[in-house]
Amino acid sequence: MRNKVTIGEALRQAHRQIKTTSDSPNLEAQLMLANILGKQRTWVVAHDDVELSPAELKDFQSGIRLRRGGTPLPYIMGRWEFYGRSFRITEEVLIPRPETELLVEEAIDYLRANPGNRTLVDIGTGSGCIGVSIAAEFPSIRVYATDISYNALCLAKENATKLGFSRNMHFFQMDLIFATKGPFDVVCANLPYIPSHDLKGLEVGQWEPHSALDGGTDGLSNIQNLMEDLPRVTKPGSLILMEIGAGMGVACTDLAKKWFPKGKIKIQSDLAGRDRLLNIAL
Ligand SMILES: C[S@@+](CC[C@H](N)C(=O)[O-])C[C@H]1O[C@@H](n2cnc3c(N)ncnc32)[C@H](O)[C@@H]1O
Repeated sequence: MRNKVTIGEALRQAHRQIKTTSDSPNLEAQLMLANILGKQRTWVVAHDDVELSPAELKDFQSGIRLRRGGTPLPYIMGRWEFYGRSFRITEEVLIPRPETELLVEEAIDYLRANPGNRTLVDIGTGSGCIGVSIAAEFPSIRVYATDISYNALCLAKENATKLGFSRNMHFFQMDLIFATKGPFDVVCANLPYIPSHDLKGLEVGQWEPHSALDGGTDGLSNIQNLMEDLPRVTKPGSLILMEIGAGMGVACTDLAKKWFPKGKIKIQSDLAGRDRLLNIAL
């Protein structure tokens, strides 16, 4: 690309370069350029005759080169939308997924229906997207966010602070919840659940941290370890929400029955009809 190119021209060239890598090359190029220009995507689309500065063009071209090489767009942009907010994202954390919004919605519904219950733990917080999105809805909530990764926790804390919800949030580096006492009204967890063997063949495994994806031999090791410890930190009336992998519903129901025989257990599906959420009401 030469200097003094317009937005429209830059977008057309970008489309040609990433159309074999990306399923939605137009959208991705528009989002990337909007992020560089500090504008909304709709502004970019409506201003295709505006000329880019050399610095803007250079940034855009290097982003497009990365995208062409396969780097996921959120890592190039350094941020991603989740539940209506923009979270800073680095390659140290999982890219927040839209299907995880189901867990957030369930937690919010429970907290609205039970106004006295305001203590929540978000286990494996990563970017903080689950804990921050819930904290944003309830000024009096206390959210404890844990992660085994120190760098993930730093990013979660940064997101909570930038979005204005750090007052109600506390961050702890630990394995699951082993060093907490509880009891918690709501337990949220989106822990790694991809079977190690499957991960080798998946594109996500090439870009996103294995510590955020690898669920051991059958994908259930984190879920199983957490479940064993949950009776210690929950009480009658608590709600447990754990994101699970497609096809894990039966195994997770069996686990839940073992540790919470009196619990009301259900598996909820995502929009694609796949097992996505283990919901245990105590
Ligand atoms: C699937 S990612 C989820 C991140 C974020 N909650 C989300 O929904 O996008 C799993 C997270 O769990 C963390 N993790 C993995 N094993 C853990 C463990 N034993 N204890 C605490 N956190 C763990 C990883 O570092 C990672 O941040």
